[in-house]
Amino acid sequence: MAIEIVATGRYLPARRVTNDDLAKTMDTSDEWIRSHTGIGSRHIAADDEATSDLAYKAALDALKSLNPENPEAEAASLDLIVVATGSPDYYGFPSVACIIQDKLKAENAGAFDIQAACTGFVYALDAASSMLMNGDRKRALVVGADILTRITNWDDRATAVLFGDAAGAVILERTDAPSRGIGKRGLIRSILRAQGSGAQELKCARGGTRAPFKKGEVIDQPIHIYMNGRAVYNFAVKAFTDIMEQLLEAEGLTMNDIKKVVPHQANERIIQAAAKRMNIPEDKFFMNIERYANTSGATIPVALDEYARTGDLEKGDIIMMVGFGGGLTYGGCLVVW
Ligand code: ACO
Repeated sequence: MAIEIVATGRYLPARRVTNDDLAKTMDTSDEWIRSHTGIGSRHIAADDEATSDLAYKAALDALKSLNPENPEAEAASLDLIVVATGSPDYYGFPSVACIIQDKLKAENAGAFDIQAACTGFVYALDAASSMLMNGDRKRALVVGADILTRITNWDDRATAVLFGDAAGAVILERTDAPSRGIGKRGLIRSILRAQGSGAQELKCARGGTRAPFKKGEVIDQPIHIYMNGRAVYNFAVKAFTDIMEQLLEAEGLTMNDIKKVVPHQANERIIQAAAKRMNIPEDKFFMNIERYANTSGATIPVALDEYARTGDLEKGDIIMMVGFGGGLTYGGCLVVW
């Protein structure tokens, strides 16, 4: 028995905004953004799009790869829907997962959200696969979806240029089949960590129960992200390398056994620094930050979907996914494809 990824999907909002577009309204430049982050453009959700709209479309894309003629019919077989998001349609409830459960008419599926910022998708994969292992549930939809541009402080050029909007999805299934690769298959190991002592370095300071907006208060900024970029950068490089090393050690593997690392796409320089520390060639990492920027919980499933569709990934290949972000959270997993 194993938990396998049997389908992937993604959705990027139609509106694409380049660095040069941003430089028209902000004191920044394509040169600064590219050289400090690797970002060239990002997609930004339309005003009438909420996170569940992106999540629903990514889910449909994944379901379509199982059943191109009738993706909606596949939704009926879902036992579980887990959405990783830090920017839900509504703070509190209902969850994004419940909203898409209704849209997909997945009447038999339990549904809930997970909030672990940019690491959310890795947490959600582990939660969903554990639930599939320990029950009579067979199929789960796991989505990473975020519209961070709606909680971005557009007056802060140091954070505003970093983010984009997207959703990515996978279908997980409990399967019985011969083992592959290293004598295992599916999601074989995951490590989840947090460093709550760094919580204040990356946060949405207003709008929650700690500091709610008050009656009569004049709001000059919507809920928005505050980030100590330098502190998060240092945390991220260490968290990223620690998780890679721990995953390899736990399974007795070396980097040579790994076909590709699909990392959270926060900043190309974080990946380059980690690669250098571990003496790994940069082409071991699947990168698409140039086109999409940091889409938070969506970066890993979107990158996984793009990578899976290149045709480079074969049955038995081992891939690693690694995330880090607000919380501070970090974690990763190994999958035998
Ligand atoms: N355009 C032009 N100049 C800029 C911009 C901009 N967009 N932003 C900052 N600058 C300027 C600063 O004002 C500063 O100027 P000064 O030297 O005159 O004061 C200079 O550039 C350097 O600024 P730094 O903040 O020191 O730049 P740094 O090299 O640290 O890069 C960055 C900033 C890209 C944010 C980096 O710190 C980083 O990537 N941090 C990690 C981000 C991250 O990984 N987040 C995690 C996930 S996010 C999540 O979980 C939601």
